[in-house]
Amino acid sequence: MLEKIEKIKQAATSEILNVQSLADLDSYRIKFLARKGLIADLFDGIRTTDAIERPQLGKVVNELRNEVQALYDEKKQILESRAGQKKQIPDLTLPGRLRWVGSQHPLTQTLDEIKRIFFRMGFDVATGPEIEDDYHNFEALNFPPDHPARDMQDTFFISDKILLRTHTSPVQIRVMENQQPPVRVIMPGRVYRNEAVSARSYCLFHQVEGLYVDEGVTFSELKGTLVAFAKEFYGSDIKYRFRPSFFPFTEPSAEMDITCFLCKGKGCRMCKQTGWLEILGCGMVDPNVYKFVGYDQEKYSGYAFGMGIERITLLRYGIDDIRILFENDVRFLKQF
Ligand code: DAH
Repeated sequence: MLEKIEKIKQAATSEILNVQSLADLDSYRIKFLARKGLIADLFDGIRTTDAIERPQLGKVVNELRNEVQALYDEKKQILESRAGQKKQIPDLTLPGRLRWVGSQHPLTQTLDEIKRIFFRMGFDVATGPEIEDDYHNFEALNFPPDHPARDMQDTFFISDKILLRTHTSPVQIRVMENQQPPVRVIMPGRVYRNEAVSARSYCLFHQVEGLYVDEGVTFSELKGTLVAFAKEFYGSDIKYRFRPSFFPFTEPSAEMDITCFLCKGKGCRMCKQTGWLEILGCGMVDPNVYKFVGYDQEKYSGYAFGMGIERITLLRYGIDDIRILFENDVRFLKQF
C-alpha cells in the first residue's frame, strides 16, 4: 500500500510540470483529485487493509491529497493570470514608445547656427571641392611658389599640383571666377592638415569662410559684420579686439579675439591665462587676388574672413578632446 502511495505521489509531482493549459490541468484534476481519481482509489483501498494500519495510512493519504491539491491550486493561479493578461486589450490612446532616431552632430549644430546668423545679414552659401589644385589653394590666393607662407599650413599632397585643401579660402577664388560683384557668401566645409593628431588638433576639421566684394566696401564694414556675428553667437556681453596679422590674400590682415567665455576674461586654462580667445582671421582682399580672378581692382574692394568650427564647438559644449568629434561613438552623439 505504501509503495502504491509513493508511486502516485511521484506521478503527481512530475506530471504537474507538463501541465501547460487549463485543459491539461482539468485532466490532471480528474486523474488525481476527482471522486473517481487515483487518490480517491487509495482511500477506498485503505478500507481493505488491516484495522491497525488504517489510521496511519489514512494520515499519509490525507497528506498526499493536500500536497496534490496545493500543486493544482498553484498551477491554476499561474495559468489563469496568464490567460487574463492575454485577454487585456491594449490602450490605443496611449502615446507610442519613441525610439532614438539619431540627432544632429554637434559640429552640424554649430555650423547651422553660424549659417543662420549670416543668412540674416544677406550672405549666400557656396561650396567647393575638398581635393583642390595648387592654383586655387595657394597661387591665386597670392602665395607665390616657394614662399614661406605656404609652410603656415602643413599640406597633404596627392601629387605635385593636387592636394587636399588646407583651408576654405580656395572657394573664394572659385566663387569670384564665376561671378562678378556684388558677391556676399559664406563657404563652409572640411579642410585637411598634415598635423600630429592630439586632443587639440586633428588631421581634418571644418572652417567657414566669408567673402564680401562690392564697390566701396571698407574695413569698418568688416568689423561691423564680425562684431554683430560675435555678439549674436557668443552673447551680447562679450568684449572683442582686432589684432594686426598676416595672410597673403588679405591686406591689411587681422585676427579677432573675444573675451574668454569660460572665465569672462579673468584668465583660465582654456585661454592660456590671457583672458582672450582667438576666433577668426580676416582682412581686406589683397588687390593681387583680384588680378587672378579678373576683377577690376580700381572699382571693387572687399573683405574676407575665415574661422574654425571645431574649437568653438568644443568650448561651447565643454568637450576637452577634439578626436571625440570624429569617432562617431553613439554614446557621445546621443547626448546632443
Ligand atoms: N584661411 C585662413 C586659415 O586657414 C583663415 C583666413 C584668414 C581666411 C583670413 C580668410 C582671411 O578669408 O581673410 O588660417
